[in-house]
Amino acid sequence: MHDSSFNLSDCLVQDGRPDRVEGRHVNMPVELGSTMVFDTLAEFEAARNARYRTGTMYYGRYGNAAAYKLEQILARLEGAEAVTLTSSGVASISTTLMALTRPGSHVLVADNIYGNTRTFCDGLLSQQGVEIEYFDPMIGADISKLLHDATAAIMFESPGSGTFEMPDIVAIATAARAAGVPTILDNTWGTPVFIRPLALGVDIVVYSASKYISGHSDCMLGVTVSNAAYAERIRKTVMQIGDKTGGQEILLALRGLRTLKLRLEHIDRAGREMANWIDGQPQVKTVLHPALPSCPGHENWKRDFTGAGGLFGVVFHTSSDSAVRAFVDALHHFGIGVSWGGYESLVLPVAPVRTATEWNEAGRLVRFNIGLEDTDSLKADLAAALPLLDP
Ligand SMILES: Cc1ncc(COP(=O)(O)O)c(C=O)c1O
Repeated sequence: MHDSSFNLSDCLVQDGRPDRVEGRHVNMPVELGSTMVFDTLAEFEAARNARYRTGTMYYGRYGNAAAYKLEQILARLEGAEAVTLTSSGVASISTTLMALTRPGSHVLVADNIYGNTRTFCDGLLSQQGVEIEYFDPMIGADISKLLHDATAAIMFESPGSGTFEMPDIVAIATAARAAGVPTILDNTWGTPVFIRPLALGVDIVVYSASKYISGHSDCMLGVTVSNAAYAERIRKTVMQIGDKTGGQEILLALRGLRTLKLRLEHIDRAGREMANWIDGQPQVKTVLHPALPSCPGHENWKRDFTGAGGLFGVVFHTSSDSAVRAFVDALHHFGIGVSWGGYESLVLPVAPVRTATEWNEAGRLVRFNIGLEDTDSLKADLAAALPLLDP
């Protein structure tokens, strides 16, 4: 969708705000509510008929004014025709896969996919009679060899969770589109600040907005972005399941968007600085950061992205679990916990799960999320703990 007046910084600040009336607040108000009432039965019936359409005020579960504002700003950021909000990133992923499949469908899933996407595919989706086939994330145009009549979707991630291979998004999207198979890309790491996947031929983009979009580790939210062809199916599935986005989360995501570019510019710089610094430490075997040449798919990142998220992996030489545990426990500036994309730095050991390809890096893999702290403090913290990984 071409939008000649689009300017990223202006959009992040100006869009998704209250409509122009005198004396309005800067931000959307808190809106609580289930029932919406109408003056006439005809107005009520018109709203009911349009309830799956964004912007329709019908009943709280379908959306409210702030939800529609958030959908509008996200659609503009992505250059998309439609956005559907859900209660979490996992809800966006599962409802999108449900919307596109039925018993007998075949779905191709990248082997480095986020763990809970794999859990959903191997669990509920398989139980519904959908065949799941995992593929090498670096497959590129050869994905076409795996497509057949029953293939209903390709699900992949930029970059892969834990192991950070950056796929050739363009090659996969082009091959899929030639065969009429929709692609779903989890672009939580890249965000619309660094890449707009629909412009590269991807059909549907999903986000955990619990990460960078809200940005403060205080919000659970999912976003599904698509062109018009898939919008209604996705929205109806979300509504039929009864998934509902909380009013407070919508306001937190709108607030997060105001600083998204600023935060990510810092995180991009700080993340690369930290990745390069860690790369120089004797305990480190390899750094898996898409902006570093050592990361598989680095060339794809260079071609398609304008910046990098601050989440990356480090493979340490040690094969000792107890040494890794001691190292992680010794860090003071890095919290130990799942999720990422808030303002705070995090650390977590990762054990990649593979079923179609091998993960055969010797050593131990640890994931770092770089936040907004002073990078000198982060380096000093790591420097003090790294000797615990020495043989
Ligand atoms: C790449 C990726 N996608 C999706 C999710 C799931 O998002 P949520 O936690 O909002 O359900 C996560 C969460 O860690 C993630 O890392």
